[in-house]
Amino acid sequence: MILSSELNLVCAVSDLEPGTAKRIVVGRLALAAFNLDGEFYVTDDTCTHGFASLSTGIIDGHLVECPWHGGTFDIRSGAPVDRPCTVPLTVYRTVVRDGALWVDLGGKPGVE
Ligand code: FES
Repeated sequence: MILSSELNLVCAVSDLEPGTAKRIVVGRLALAAFNLDGEFYVTDDTCTHGFASLSTGIIDGHLVECPWHGGTFDIRSGAPVDRPCTVPLTVYRTVVRDGALWVDLGGKPGVE
């Protein structure tokens, strides 16, 4: 479901409990949606070090630890904070509207 030309539905806010993550696919993009105590973030789901799904990682505060090699990212900025990760994640703008979480992919290639 598309709200505008750039906003894509992620999930109902009630489906993403605080301190959890959910993997979603939009077009050919795999994304990870995080609820950090009521603040919502959407990043690429695939770790920049390998092909692990970060939505299955360990969330500790505003950090997510990759389930494969333990690299860590700041979910809010996408910045790598612990090796072996050195390349940042893309973080997308989110919108909460009418009880749903939306993501603005900004015309990223691969989104239909
Ligand atoms: S695949 Fe994520 S740290 Fe290696």
